[in-house]
Amino acid sequence: MARHLITSALPYINGIKHLGNMVGSMLPADVYTRYLRQRGHDVLYICATDEHGTPAELAAKDAGLPVAEFCAQQHHAQKEIYDGFSLAFDYFGRSSSEQNREITQHIARKLKENGFIEERSIRQVFSITDDRFLPDRYIVGTCPHCGYDKARGDQCENCTRVLDPTDLIEPRSAISGSGELEIRETTHLFLLQSKLAGEVEAWIDENGEEWPTLASSIARKWLTEGLHDRAITRDLDWGVPVPADTWPELAAEGKVFYVWFDAPIEYIAATKEWADAEREAGDSAPRDWKSWWYEADDVRYTQFMAKDNVPFHTVMFPATMLGTREPWKKVDYVKAFNWLNYYGGKFSTSQKRGIFTDAALELLPADYWRYFLIANAPESDDTSFTWELFSSSVNKDLADTLGNFVNRVLSFSRKRFGDEVPAGREAGEAEQKLGEQIAELLAEYEGHMETLQFRKAAHALRALWSAGNSYLEEKAPWLEIKTDQDGAALTLRTAMNLIHLYSVISEPFIPASARLMRSAFTLTDDTTPWITAEQAKSLSAVPAGTPFTVPPVLFAKITAEDLDAYRERFGGAETADAG
Ligand code: 2FM
Ligand code: ZN
Repeated sequence: MARHLITSALPYINGIKHLGNMVGSMLPADVYTRYLRQRGHDVLYICATDEHGTPAELAAKDAGLPVAEFCAQQHHAQKEIYDGFSLAFDYFGRSSSEQNREITQHIARKLKENGFIEERSIRQVFSITDDRFLPDRYIVGTCPHCGYDKARGDQCENCTRVLDPTDLIEPRSAISGSGELEIRETTHLFLLQSKLAGEVEAWIDENGEEWPTLASSIARKWLTEGLHDRAITRDLDWGVPVPADTWPELAAEGKVFYVWFDAPIEYIAATKEWADAEREAGDSAPRDWKSWWYEADDVRYTQFMAKDNVPFHTVMFPATMLGTREPWKKVDYVKAFNWLNYYGGKFSTSQKRGIFTDAALELLPADYWRYFLIANAPESDDTSFTWELFSSSVNKDLADTLGNFVNRVLSFSRKRFGDEVPAGREAGEAEQKLGEQIAELLAEYEGHMETLQFRKAAHALRALWSAGNSYLEEKAPWLEIKTDQDGAALTLRTAMNLIHLYSVISEPFIPASARLMRSAFTLTDDTTPWITAEQAKSLSAVPAGTPFTVPPVLFAKITAEDLDAYRERFGGAETADAG
């Protein structure tokens, strides 16, 4: 038994996330967490909302709410949705917490003490109308290269040229639209990443070997391009304030830390939030947040994120931690994902394209989404969501292969043998062969879960479900029963053991359905967290005489009419160009 710390990239607070966000972070982290818990490990799964930065401020402004109130509301709304998806966080915190302020400020002080933060004066665009400094991307104007009139100060979306705000023709504020801009001098804190580059590189050399190529290649690319010193403060009203005891002048000016400085620190802070919530939870076991993060050599730390987050997690955050000269835990394994597209185009929060997590849950139960998304996770490449693929996967894998098997076996057995698992004769050759096949597939499944290869794991899980169907077709108990009652009883008992096995091993993917399957049996000992390949061979966890019930249909098929309605509501193939 090992200690596993799991974090998934913190979702931004500025609105409900789409399925593309979830598939590259929280959902696979949950699947892995559930698997490790079932295998008996001590697991801590931490996530939180990422609440600072200009997007949060602007979203609050759009909603007509004070930013603190907006964040509180949105945190609650997101949390409800994640509960709906059965995401089993140990704690879902908030980066605007007191704990994050405390730890972020502590880390900044340490970095200064060690000579890795310095004050630098820079020239920045100030909007007189908005009475604030504007980040580059909140300045818009005409692109000097292509003439596009909505180019942003950091980049022209039209010709993709990287820009400086001063390049723009007729620049104006993206917030108010005002052209009353001027350049002002202002002082910011800089994280001297250039001084830490060697150490970060050595750390990646030592630890990055094991990471999937997607993560290690992005990390290396960043290193090759050179680690530049980076401004880690902003002129915003909302954020972790620069500590007044260390930088009194900047604190007096109201400077706060840049959102990407405090967001990863929130992984630590949310763990402290979890510990501080102990009394509320009435837990008897003491929660020791520090043992997970400080001198935590016995902890294995796995992070989940989409590829755009990799540089921050593999370079900037480790540099920050290294610069404190304190023994903070650093990531052991970075599980990174490509993009999930919607019909080949981008899911987009701002353009409201694709499927949002709240709408998904209104439409269908969480397990349908969980299974489809993980089975099609963008691991080695970008993948596309299409309603056609989704419905065929739900119908074939969940409804036909798994759901139908469960219902068919239990209903038929009840009809012929009553409400208890029938005895029949001893297992024969067919059952032995099945047991061996199941053991082999289960070992494969475990292997893929251990190495976090979710698509392959889903493939193995599907093969396990199919093996049950093939066995049932081969033995055909509905024919067997006419001539050989004991033989039919053996077949059904074996099939019921498969259902029980499925309920255990499918839990990480489809927890609610797994629970339903499992509760079909009234077992005297129902504590089995996992069934190993070796144990699975005998298919005997559910003995003859065990009372059972027939659960309601596990998965309803998506009909042609449903499909039409979904395409109509969310847009189908014709939306592909829009990305
Ligand atoms: O890209 C994003 O959605 C960010 N909110 C992820 C932050 S992850 C972490 F570092 F906090
Ligand atoms: Zn341009």
